[in-house]
Amino acid sequence: MHICLNDKVFKTLSEVVTAEEVKAFVIGGWVRDCLLKRDHPEKDIDIVVIGNGIEIAKKSARRIDPDIKVSVFKNFGTAMFKWGNFNIEFVGARKESYKRGSRKPVVENGTLEDDQKRRDFTINALAISINKDTFGEFLDPFDGINDLKKKIIRTPLNPDRTFSDDPLRMIRAIRFATQLNFSIEAGTFGSITKNAERIRIVSQERIITELNKIIVCDHPSTGFILLEKSGLLRIIFPELDNMKGVYKKEGKAHKDNFLHSVKVLDNISKHTDNLWLRWAALLHDIAKPVTKKYTQETGWSFHGHEYIGSKMIPDIFRKLKLPLNENMKYVQKLVDLHLRPIVLSQEEVTDSAVRRLLFEAGDDIDDLMALCEADITSKNETKKTQHLENFRYVRRKLKEIEEKDAIRNFQPPVDGDEIIKTFGIKPGKEVGLIKSAIREAILDGIIPNEHDAARKLMIRKGKEIGLTPSDDST
Ligand code: CTP
Repeated sequence: MHICLNDKVFKTLSEVVTAEEVKAFVIGGWVRDCLLKRDHPEKDIDIVVIGNGIEIAKKSARRIDPDIKVSVFKNFGTAMFKWGNFNIEFVGARKESYKRGSRKPVVENGTLEDDQKRRDFTINALAISINKDTFGEFLDPFDGINDLKKKIIRTPLNPDRTFSDDPLRMIRAIRFATQLNFSIEAGTFGSITKNAERIRIVSQERIITELNKIIVCDHPSTGFILLEKSGLLRIIFPELDNMKGVYKKEGKAHKDNFLHSVKVLDNISKHTDNLWLRWAALLHDIAKPVTKKYTQETGWSFHGHEYIGSKMIPDIFRKLKLPLNENMKYVQKLVDLHLRPIVLSQEEVTDSAVRRLLFEAGDDIDDLMALCEADITSKNETKKTQHLENFRYVRRKLKEIEEKDAIRNFQPPVDGDEIIKTFGIKPGKEVGLIKSAIREAILDGIIPNEHDAARKLMIRKGKEIGLTPSDDST
């Protein structure tokens, strides 16, 4: 028996397909990942059946547990159900390609080899028989096992054909290369370069799924560099593509912002799996191309790129079909604040500047500091050590102030209700004025972040703007 079929789920499936007298095989990601000894949190098993995949799915589910719900996707000729940790998907072998984005029904039945050759890559076309008499037998007509050994991504057919069947596969090739640390075979990569424009027919939802899979890799820069080299990046993410190149004038050069951004992404990826922190790292300098300026005295500058960058995020998220929710706001906030700790570390670190940063970053302060540290991509070791030392100092200061003043989740010690009651006024502009005077005084360190001091200031401020506190409130 083959090691990839150790789980008892395969024994049960084998019994069903053998009893039904249909040939069936485990194929695709399960086989690939098993041979690579990759552990997957989601256990997806793809079964290809020489016959009616939907029928066999229903029969298998019934044998396992009559209450299992089978989801049928008639147009794709597939059916799936969950069993414990497993998601088991059945498909009838076919001559037609897997047009997942298409609404056209899949009709033409085929042999196992027909099915294998219409898959994306040789390493995803490996099949293992689950019928009783041939249980565990390998079927590898395109030498996928060898490609796994050589760490190569290659299409089973002429790549132009495979990519024309589904152009998303061009990005998938790059995603697998990044995820598995494989290289893309020259002919396959040449075809991606040649057919890059065809990506335009693929839905943005499918593209962003692949892009996110690249971002969560250990070294996502590999994927972005391949996307750039192939010409795909220019089409699917022009704002990022626009960052490449070194700016030069009068012997003064500014680093390649694209390479810098993907390096920052790699750096942050060593510390976090948070997809949105990774997006923030990739996008932190996104406004550099639109804010770049050169003068003889100061050389290259990118004034306000953090602010303009944060304003660009909603548009980018909308176009990429990323969610326009609190995750987007988080990315915006980090992009907007990404220079603040650097500025702090370069100047005399005043308590009030630290308090303001804590107030604005709130609970995201640790992520912001991680982003700033990842942003150090200098090759000059002395410089790097100096920057890191500065940030350590800023972190110490942040901790010190937070312990003293508890600003991180700032709640005004005197709230609107108290102001209204004290002065017997209605909600309105005055309440806002007093609240912001209290907040500013706390952030500037004029009063402590405590109720009594804030209340005193409230009374004083109120009087200043012509309000009279009720008798019992002074
Ligand atoms: N497939 C394909 N072309 C696509 C998508 C999928 O040929 N555009 C085939 C491949 O054989 C793939 C299988 O369908 O192995 C299952 O696809 P999917 O679940 O998307 O990928 P996996 O290979 O399982 O890998 P992962 O779970 O890492 O995405």
